Amino acid sequence: MNNTLLPETLQALELKVARETGLDFSSSRNRDLEARNALAAKEFGFSDPETFARWVVSSLPAKRHEQWVETLTVGETYFRREAEVFETLEKQVIPALAANNTASRRLKIWCAGCSTGEEAYSLAISLARTKVDLKDWDVTILGTDMNTASLKKAEVGRYGLWAFRNTPSWFRDHYFMKLSNNVWEIRPELHRAVTFLPLNLIDLNHTQRFQRPDAPLLADFDLILCRNVLMYFAPDTASGVLQALKASLCKTGLLFVSASEFSLKGLDEFVSAPLGDTLAFRKSTSPAAAPKPVSAPAFVPKVRHQQKPRKASVLRRPLARPPKPVPKLDEVRQLADTGRWPEALNLCLRVLKERELDPSAHYLLAVLHIEMGHLKEAVLALQRALYLDPAHLLAHFSLGHLLQSQGFAKAAKKSFENALNVDRGAAAQVLPELDGLTVGQFRELVRQTLQEGDSL
Ligand SMILES: C[S@@+](CC[C@H](N)C(=O)[O-])C[C@H]1O[C@@H](n2cnc3c(N)ncnc32)[C@H](O)[C@@H]1O
Repeated sequence: MNNTLLPETLQALELKVARETGLDFSSSRNRDLEARNALAAKEFGFSDPETFARWVVSSLPAKRHEQWVETLTVGETYFRREAEVFETLEKQVIPALAANNTASRRLKIWCAGCSTGEEAYSLAISLARTKVDLKDWDVTILGTDMNTASLKKAEVGRYGLWAFRNTPSWFRDHYFMKLSNNVWEIRPELHRAVTFLPLNLIDLNHTQRFQRPDAPLLADFDLILCRNVLMYFAPDTASGVLQALKASLCKTGLLFVSASEFSLKGLDEFVSAPLGDTLAFRKSTSPAAAPKPVSAPAFVPKVRHQQKPRKASVLRRPLARPPKPVPKLDEVRQLADTGRWPEALNLCLRVLKERELDPSAHYLLAVLHIEMGHLKEAVLALQRALYLDPAHLLAHFSLGHLLQSQGFAKAAKKSFENALNVDRGAAAQVLPELDGLTVGQFRELVRQTLQEGDSL
């Protein structure tokens, strides 16, 4: 199918998307919009993307709006994404906020753009792990998103192994119940701690109320996390949302965005606060009890390349695009990013028919199998990737995790050792496929994982 739209259709679609979702698909993102539109056309039963796009622009019925929005969003998320943020929350921020609020015994937290819930539950777990006793406190954790299909998954609270790719095994074992080899359910007390509600951030105004009578007011938040959301918005739209978020914070409130969003337009209206290994944004300088930085700033805000490399995030962005994207694998990734695993799997199998010697296609297939709980197939796909590219670090590492999770400790150990034996140059050498991690940092991570396995 030809994805290309006529220039005037593309422009009208781009405008509609920006107006109704805030998402920016201008210039270099045009191709992505066309690819998403083509996939959506299929889902809606249209054979021609151009006809579909015109229909969307002129007469998309309100009852199908949600379904259309779902085709546009990137829902990629996982537990304790940017682990240093959660460590800082546990050690510094939550204790300081609690000290602030001893009189009211109230704590209000909002995860804006929570996708399928991993971030909001990670927050609930951080509250459970902090040394502060919050028993009998009125604690609110609100998770909102405009993608209602994602929110439904968040409500269910069941996750595959892939969602735990950035966490040690104790995190999963302690706070989740194992339902099967690849399905883990959040513990009931943590599930109860979080409320999920639909909200489009571009409609946000701080006097807004949700329809549900028991829903919290969008005001007076002690803490807001809005991470990996506004990076997809046009600068002015992001800035408008940031203003509204600021108005929703209480006086001592703090905002967290992701490290790749520190240069967002609109953050200069906040006071930046280096905390531990990360950076938060305060509503104002005045309050005495706001958390104090414990160490010198590790990096200067707004300069992306000075961020500290993140040790535990070796599998972050597993679906990261190669420098020169291959259109078909990219389509698979887009489907996977929006959680449409069966479709992504089918497409990936089709791609493999043409590219059976491509290790990254086999690796991607393994990722999809893992997500869908087909663990045997995932092992086979990883083995094929490794046959074609014995130096595929991610494949060795994922295979190790997969085997470990299935109780094959010896074989897992072998895979981790294989990952260590791959010669990828000096310790300082940067590994682009591992999100900029250096060879030395990757080796350290594998060694830690091996030690964890030995101590089980
Ligand atoms: C990449 S996910 C980030 C999830 C999580 N915050 C994290 O950092 O892992 C981005 C989320 O933002 C949501 N989103 C995008 N535009 C939005 C909008 N206008 N209003 C509300 N949510 C939005 C998407 O639906 C998606 O779930």
